[in-house]
Amino acid sequence: MLRSQAEGDEEQYLSIALQVAAAEARQGRRETANEIRAAVDAARAHRGVNPSIPIAFSRPKGDLEGLLELRETRNRIADVVLPGHISERLENLLLQQRRRDWLREHGRVPSHRLLFVGPPGSGKTMTAEALAGELRLPLFVIRLDTLITRFMGETAAKLRLVFDETLRRRAVYLFDEFDAVGGRRSASNDVAEMRRVLNSFLQFMEEPSATDSPIVAATNHPELLDRALLRRFDEVLEFDLPDAEQVRAVIKANLRGMKYPRLSWPAIEDMAQGLSQAEIARAANEAVKDAILAQRKTISTAQLTAKLSERQAMRAAFAPNV
Ligand SMILES: Nc1ncnc2c1ncn2[C@@H]1O[C@H](COP(=O)(O)OP(=O)(O)O)[C@@H](O)[C@H]1O
Ligand SMILES: [Mg+2]
Repeated sequence: MLRSQAEGDEEQYLSIALQVAAAEARQGRRETANEIRAAVDAARAHRGVNPSIPIAFSRPKGDLEGLLELRETRNRIADVVLPGHISERLENLLLQQRRRDWLREHGRVPSHRLLFVGPPGSGKTMTAEALAGELRLPLFVIRLDTLITRFMGETAAKLRLVFDETLRRRAVYLFDEFDAVGGRRSASNDVAEMRRVLNSFLQFMEEPSATDSPIVAATNHPELLDRALLRRFDEVLEFDLPDAEQVRAVIKANLRGMKYPRLSWPAIEDMAQGLSQAEIARAANEAVKDAILAQRKTISTAQLTAKLSERQAMRAAFAPNV
């Protein structure tokens, strides 16, 4: 244990600590075991990175700290269940990014300004994570709450910082929940304010750019975006609720490791109607957890439909606020 930490392999250190905790528990020393586990959890949370992802990108510093958040990336775009037309465009985009030097030599700019539009839980953030993963770039999420202050001048200066950084450091920059910039506030004062923030965002987007950093804006509220805005993007990808085939794909992806020999897919698809990919993924995941806890290796139609129906109920309970 000491050696692994001396060699700087913190994750190995923590997993040995968990083995010690398990041994303590087996010998009936629950309290000690729980203390060790809590300490490991705290250490992992403090570090804030998924240990299974080995790429270490440096965190933003100075003025950018608090404005940009370094996020985990995913390795594969293929893990995102998407309709064919979106996958094709993403593949094309990856190709342009990978061969950007070649394009630049021919006087062309690789597409890099992207807008993801679609309902919550349809995979917009996940896709941005996968883009970064495929391109082996860090993913920076712009903290809109820090960016947008009550003082317009300040907000514009911060935007300038972010856009300068896209030039300095190649990465995927994600303006998630972009509608906050586009103007969701209801008070008329705020609307005017948001408009101005949006305008300065648009100006930065217009600048003939030397950056090849993908800049992704994602929003659940397409109705807030006007044509002037849409024109600024190289690609606008529309995400949607899943069709029957995508429902299956999301469920199967989340049942990995389990057996499900005789599922009645029509019944499952029926119960998944109107749910987002995120809700369906969650339902499948809940069914798997139940099975693991009950020491079962198979998943049945009834178990899945029960979990999906729970999601439907939750959705109904919150519907008035949407
Ligand atoms: N298209 C999809 N394919 C597979 N899983 C998905 C998809 N969309 C959402 N999910 C699941 O739901 C989670 C949340 O989705 P997210 O990308 O945050 O949605 P959005 O940003 O559109 O609101 C993802 O981490 C993933 O587990
Ligand atoms: Mg999102």
